[in-house]
Amino acid sequence: MSGAPREKWNSRTGFVLAAIGSAVGLGNMWRFSYLAAEHGGAAFVVLYLGFTLLVGVPVLLAEMALGRGARRSPIAALEHYGGRSWRGLGALFVVSGFVILAYYSVIAGWTFAYAISGLTGFGSDPAATFAEVSTGPDAVAWHLAFMALVVTVVIGGVRGGIERAAVFLMPALLVLLVGLALYASGLEGSGEGYRRYLSIDVSAVFDRDVMVQAAGQAFFSLSLGMGAMLTFASYVGRDTDLKRDSLVISASDFGVAFLAGLVVFPLIFAFGLEAQVGDSTLGALFITLPAAFAEMGAAGRVVGTLFFVGLAVGALTSAVSLLEVVVSTAIDSLGLSRRRATLFFGSVTALLGIPAALDIEILGLMDQVAGNFLLVLGGFLLAVFVGWRMPDPVAAVLPGAASRWGLGAWRGLLRYVVPPILLWVLWGSAEATLAAVGAVLG
Ligand code: PHE
Repeated sequence: MSGAPREKWNSRTGFVLAAIGSAVGLGNMWRFSYLAAEHGGAAFVVLYLGFTLLVGVPVLLAEMALGRGARRSPIAALEHYGGRSWRGLGALFVVSGFVILAYYSVIAGWTFAYAISGLTGFGSDPAATFAEVSTGPDAVAWHLAFMALVVTVVIGGVRGGIERAAVFLMPALLVLLVGLALYASGLEGSGEGYRRYLSIDVSAVFDRDVMVQAAGQAFFSLSLGMGAMLTFASYVGRDTDLKRDSLVISASDFGVAFLAGLVVFPLIFAFGLEAQVGDSTLGALFITLPAAFAEMGAAGRVVGTLFFVGLAVGALTSAVSLLEVVVSTAIDSLGLSRRRATLFFGSVTALLGIPAALDIEILGLMDQVAGNFLLVLGGFLLAVFVGWRMPDPVAAVLPGAASRWGLGAWRGLLRYVVPPILLWVLWGSAEATLAAVGAVLG
């Protein structure tokens, strides 16, 4: 353990914005819209909201209570309250972070490529453009460029890099999305998009596969199950109201995803792109939106480029939190300097992402394995840990909180409600993961 005092956020707002920056990213747009389109639109949205409230919010508060209580990075925090046998969960977090960042960076690279190519006009054959951009040497190059940017921000440290980036960029992203949603609402034919997005097909709500994907998405989107929120909260002071912050973060994250849907769904239907969405799941966002932008002519170049810049910004603040978990663990457990830890582990992640940039099936597989299964597994074990093993989790939340209100119910959820639900989801996720492995192996 290094003797230097632990880094801290400059302000409470800085912490909340950085946490929102972690939560809001490709998950809210790329992942949310393709899963929503694939799994019955409104039914998926309702389930995702349900899992966010019942499981996401309690687990988010659990991660933050653990992080601030221990004031350590994940492995050390778990050992602090749970002894050596719980270190393995921290190691699982680090592995999940590695794998997610590796393919996440590839997708972020696509957004770079689209933002740049949008300046000269989006091509007339979006599916072919996507195939070109998403896989191959260009995808590798953009992925490496994005990783270099992430490393640069993380080397800047908690105050200089992450916080400064988040404070300016997140409000900008929000303004951009609201503008796009307003723009989309004025398009002819957008009504059908709203219908798909907002009117529920009840039978799909009870579909197990939809539930598994909605639960996984709640974790992915809130950056849960791999220690990112734990790590961010370890830099926070005793005066911060974690209870209120967890609600603000969850509401913002859901709000941005919902807003993204209000952009994507009307655009798909206004431009008649349903068939292409059906054909490609992973590429849905990247095929349909440029097609819409291309049809808008000159205005589409501006709107489209702005959209992909916004997406890249959201991706950057999320990717930073993924790398921060690995780096802060290396600083605490291996005694490395921030600079060395970031350069070394950033390079390892960059290498790990190359296969995903060369084969989109590998990317999809990594997303199912790490983005769904490992996050749900990590979230399940974390809920059990904070609910049953951590000495007094309520006391870890209380400093800064205005009242004890709801904290008893929170602990009850962590003990009796969240674990059984997640165990059930985990089972379905394991099946989906095995099926995905089987599909890729042929
Ligand atoms: N929540 C981020 C997003 O929605 C992704 C992420 C997952 C970040 C896990 C950190 C940890 O884009």
